[in-house]
Amino acid sequence: MKERSLVSLDSWSREDIEEVLNHARELKRRLAQGERFSFLAGKNVTLAFYEPSTRTRVSFEEAAQLGGARTHTVLAATSSVAKGESLVDTVRTLVAAGADALVLRHPAAGAPALVARHVPVPVINAGDGAHAHPTQALLDAFTLWERLGSLDGLTVTIIGDIRFSRVARSNITAFTRLGARVRVAGPPTLLPPGLEALGAEVRENLEEALRGTDVVYLLRIQKERSSAAYLPSLAEYSRFWGFNEERLALAGPKVLVLHPGPANIGVEVSAGVARSPQALFTTQVTNGVVVRLALLHLLLGGNDYASRS
Ligand code: NCD
Repeated sequence: MKERSLVSLDSWSREDIEEVLNHARELKRRLAQGERFSFLAGKNVTLAFYEPSTRTRVSFEEAAQLGGARTHTVLAATSSVAKGESLVDTVRTLVAAGADALVLRHPAAGAPALVARHVPVPVINAGDGAHAHPTQALLDAFTLWERLGSLDGLTVTIIGDIRFSRVARSNITAFTRLGARVRVAGPPTLLPPGLEALGAEVRENLEEALRGTDVVYLLRIQKERSSAAYLPSLAEYSRFWGFNEERLALAGPKVLVLHPGPANIGVEVSAGVARSPQALFTTQVTNGVVVRLALLHLLLGGNDYASRS
């Protein structure tokens, strides 16, 4: 890996992404055979989470521990952040206490880039505002790559709150680098300018967006980022854009449905679609662990697998 930190995938080539995917596949295979690893032994991976999280946090903790690292998780609400300490002072404190890598989630776009300039250890962005969520994109790319063999020539349609979604931005980058065509679709108020420059095609009509797509990628409405102000109501969003059984049938029997979670059942996705075998939500979560393990190994570990018996 060229870079020490992972703030976004902007500078990542197809080969960089494939290195992580190949490595994750190898680690997944070895784990399934019962192999255990120690390539992160002696390392301390510290998570600093300034926003709610379920799967990203547990996934990073599980990945670090599978590699043999110790982990600490600092939540803003229960840390000295609540006493007024600045972000840079907090992360410097975490490094002084022994962190060999920092995993940061923050509501401000640019926070991980700022931190990476002020600490001497790798910083991994676990989601910053509406900017980027690179490890989500890597695990989503892995899920499709593992299932379909390649993303070359695939059409992926991302539906929902594109304006406030860090997942959309990172996934457009990852999917297009791997050879997929990416469409984005949603209410016009939630489609910001500049999407074409990122490599996406914009659709304002759901039926048109679904025609011929191989993958539907659903997003939650980011209420905490004020996107509710861009919509008359969630009920209307659900009626016009919610992905239900009827729309799944329109997309076809082979279409795969992804969602980064947390899903708001009954808003962007119906319970029936979420339960359908075409929905890979749980597989995405499972794959997140090995993808993050691969990434931590590449950023922190030695070259060998240094397996524990
Ligand atoms: C996403 C996030 O936090 O950006 N969740 C996740 O990490 N799996 C998506 C979301 O919150 O809607």
